[in-house]
Amino acid sequence: MIKISPSILNVKTENIASKVKKLDTAGADYIHIDVMNGTYVDNISFNSDIVKEIKKITSKVLDVHLMIKPIKPHLEEYINAGSDIITFHPEVENDPKGIIEFLKQNNIEAGIALHPKINILDYKELFSIVDQIIVMTVIPGYGGQKFIETQLNKINELNELRKLKKYKFNISADGGINHQSGRECIKNGVDVLAVGSFLLSKPETEFAKIINSFK
Ligand code: DX5
Ligand code: ZN
Repeated sequence: MIKISPSILNVKTENIASKVKKLDTAGADYIHIDVMNGTYVDNISFNSDIVKEIKKITSKVLDVHLMIKPIKPHLEEYINAGSDIITFHPEVENDPKGIIEFLKQNNIEAGIALHPKINILDYKELFSIVDQIIVMTVIPGYGGQKFIETQLNKINELNELRKLKKYKFNISADGGINHQSGRECIKNGVDVLAVGSFLLSKPETEFAKIINSFK
């Protein structure tokens, strides 16, 4: 069953609590929280305080996507804030394996996010230990961008490799997801769709219908 992870990046801070509650009752599986602090990407978005606040109002899986560098000094902060899955961009650290191991020791699911410019084979040694791989289907940094079609090959390649080697990770696609791109992702092996503007720009009364329409 496909999981939907609504990305609240473009929601105004004062509306986050009410939107998250609505997404929760509408059947979202995860809540995708994009963390940016002007380092890995130039944009600035949420920090660990937001993760803490969201944790208080929902029991959904908090799918925290760190677009920051370095990662190590911030890990405990995001673990303590209540993240369930922490996904980071492996090229920002010289010991991504150590970070994954640290997360797992703390009972947090560990994910890596692959920038469109990254070749998946560069990180194949991490595939047996990660719980999630986010394939970025836009250049990280902003919501509302257009889906990059060529990333479907990457998704497919990952899925084939997963079958062959019996890896356990979930594949997530993040960026520019709408009905059409979402369907293509699912066809190519995606398990978790991070859906931002396509869902959040719609009236709250339509959230449940849209979430279900991907399933
Ligand atoms: C981009 C973020 C995405 C983005 C998704 O850096 O990681 O999660 O907010 O938003 P849409 O669906 O609008 O592309
Ligand atoms: Zn994201």
